[in-house]
Amino acid sequence: MDHSWLTLLDARVPRYTSYPTAPHFHPRIGSALFENWLKAIDPRQPISLYVHVPFCHQLCWYCGCNTHIVKGERPVELFLKNVLKEIGLVQRHLSGRPKVSHLHFGGGSPNRLTADQFDQIMQRLHQAFELVEGAEIALEIDPRHLDTAQTQTYARWGVNRASLGVQDFDPDVQKAMNRIQPFDTVARAVGLLREAGITAINFDLLYGLPLQTIDSIHATIAQTALLSPDRVALFGYAHVPWLKKQQKTLERFGLPSATQRAELALYARSELEKHYQPIGIDHFAKAGDSLAVAAKNNQLHRNFQGYTVDEAKTLIAFGPSGISSTPQGFAQKEPELAAWNHCIEADQLAIRRGIALEPADRLRSDIIEQIMCHLGVDVEAVAKQHGETPELFLPCFDHLAPFAAQGLVTIEGWRLTIPEQRRLAARSIAAAFDAYLQPEETRHSAAV
Ligand SMILES: C[S@@+](CC[C@H](N)C(=O)[O-])C[C@H]1O[C@@H](n2cnc3c(N)ncnc32)[C@H](O)[C@@H]1O
Ligand code: SF4
Repeated sequence: MDHSWLTLLDARVPRYTSYPTAPHFHPRIGSALFENWLKAIDPRQPISLYVHVPFCHQLCWYCGCNTHIVKGERPVELFLKNVLKEIGLVQRHLSGRPKVSHLHFGGGSPNRLTADQFDQIMQRLHQAFELVEGAEIALEIDPRHLDTAQTQTYARWGVNRASLGVQDFDPDVQKAMNRIQPFDTVARAVGLLREAGITAINFDLLYGLPLQTIDSIHATIAQTALLSPDRVALFGYAHVPWLKKQQKTLERFGLPSATQRAELALYARSELEKHYQPIGIDHFAKAGDSLAVAAKNNQLHRNFQGYTVDEAKTLIAFGPSGISSTPQGFAQKEPELAAWNHCIEADQLAIRRGIALEPADRLRSDIIEQIMCHLGVDVEAVAKQHGETPELFLPCFDHLAPFAAQGLVTIEGWRLTIPEQRRLAARSIAAAFDAYLQPEETRHSAAV
């Protein structure tokens, strides 16, 4: 297989779960401004909610998430007390009881909370918000720590989607990543969820981990297929030991080279495509799944969790590091647990940084979202919707010329299309429209 085109892509290019991206948030966005954004929410338009649960039972060496391993239950109980209070602090600034169409619990591992703790959060959310009929209520789950009391509580509250962290089934890879999780453990968790009626199941898989080989990826995907999740997210392992010190441990085992990583990525994708439709850059879904249907109808969206069918224009986040998104801009909570606890106890909304959106940001955000979701965009049409002319983007088209020469994108007039087999180029094509990137950040180098 020829992987040379992958070397044109820059691994440092953002994944565009938002535009502008989080590194461009700044501390001039604080709680006072966010209060105004909350006040402007129209209670008749459904919104989305995100709750970040920053705890796990054990640390995976590869983990890049905002989580904590704590001794004893006091830190978790304090978090619970404060997240309940935080919902009340937000509620003070809302008019009425806004409708909610999507609720997502992420982390960390939301199932680090007991059934009773989860129950308390849901009760409080129901007081402040109206979950509409058919709302999607999704939870990220560590399959090693799931019990019947939890799955029954989730089902009682209408949880209808669960994302399981699977990563890799190979015993040696699992040992290297400090996450022993045999097939039977994952099968048991899937069984508990399905028995409780939570039948929409997602798996997260990773490539680029130490000791992974084409054979181990083959076996992991064969075992995944046996459990038949509706969706699979396939992420490239992001090695950032300067931010996440424990990742350094993985270097003992040796990380795959850029070429090996590209081979693992392409092989994993080709195996998954035997069972699933590819969605965007890193998701796979069964043909009838709502994500696959949305992709087919050009109704896919991108948010902080990746790809979604969620159309809400407002997302309110609770818990440390959570990012809220409103038509006026993005606002991120204090990422440090202690600082977040401190703010909430002082009756503050704990906004640490963010960015207010300018009209030019909204225009570029629409272009980037279309590239990431639909693998193409009519720049003229989007510019017109925003009252602009496409000529504004001539420098972006100049930047794309080398990509077009390599067949990573076709350009016809103002329309861009990424060929089906070059989906992984979407981030780099989108980056051409990112006004915040420095020129060297869009330069060609490394691979996926
Ligand atoms: C919050 S975790 C999922 C729920 C639960 N904590 C678990 O791991 O089972 C979110 C996902 O992020 C992905 N992830 C974590 N660290 C990563 C990294 N360094 N690079 C890429 N993906 C990563 C993993 O696939 C993981 O399943
Ligand atoms: S269980 Fe999930 S969030 Fe927790 S350390 Fe592992 S990957 Fe990170």
